[in-house]
Amino acid sequence: AFFEPQTLPLKGKKVLVSAGPTRERIDPVRYLTNFSSGKMGYAMAIAARDLGATVTLVSGPVDLPKPTGMTVIDVESAQEMYEVIMDKYDDLDIAIKTAAVADYRPKNLQQQKMKKQQGDSTMELERTTDILKALGDKKTHQLLIGFAAETNDVIHYAQGKLQKKNADYIVANDVSKTDRGFGADINTVVLVGKDNFQQSFPSMAKEKLAKNLLEVILKKEGQWQ
Ligand code: CTP
Ligand code: CA
Repeated sequence: AFFEPQTLPLKGKKVLVSAGPTRERIDPVRYLTNFSSGKMGYAMAIAARDLGATVTLVSGPVDLPKPTGMTVIDVESAQEMYEVIMDKYDDLDIAIKTAAVADYRPKNLQQQKMKKQQGDSTMELERTTDILKALGDKKTHQLLIGFAAETNDVIHYAQGKLQKKNADYIVANDVSKTDRGFGADINTVVLVGKDNFQQSFPSMAKEKLAKNLLEVILKKEGQWQ
């Protein structure tokens, strides 16, 4: 709101943000998920909107108010999230994968509520599709930004994910302390990019961090005007 419209750096750009956890059903009353609150992803979507982008927010189940001025698509499972994002991908300028996608889902979805059975203590799982990797493999012109929550060797793992998933940037999230990262209002991150690019950000509110991340990335890409 403080910019003149013609100075909005993302004006005319299509940006998709994924946010929140996914929910992988076990049976009609149970599921597997994680502690993602969706706050960082929602902050990224709002920051992109405020820079003038046409934003699509693909959201897992979260307890946050629906942001205005963007298209919000609610999904539940990793597979649904994958299908929605793939469908929009060709058209996008920037894809930001903030979602904490479940890595595994139950192999067999039970149609009836499961019953305890004597001696039965394991459940068979299978891997979900790695959405960010699928986007990286299919990348043509899109700028691809991933997130990675780590408790240790943060930069090392982030660089590995950058390469493996053919992403342009990975925002590496230190979740080793409970006051930041998952569920918290503040976050401490290191931004990692190609050619050993690395920039640390001090702990700050997720809303402020989202703006700073987009500013640093767009400046580095020569898209900040
Ligand atoms: N991601 C994804 N699809 C998955 C798993 C992860 O798109 N099935 C994306 C996340 O949205 C995030 C990035 O990949 O942008 C990194 O997620 P993370 O969980 O840190 O990495 P993984 O590759 O799943 O590795 P691991 O959990 O084993 O550390
Ligand atoms: Ca994972």
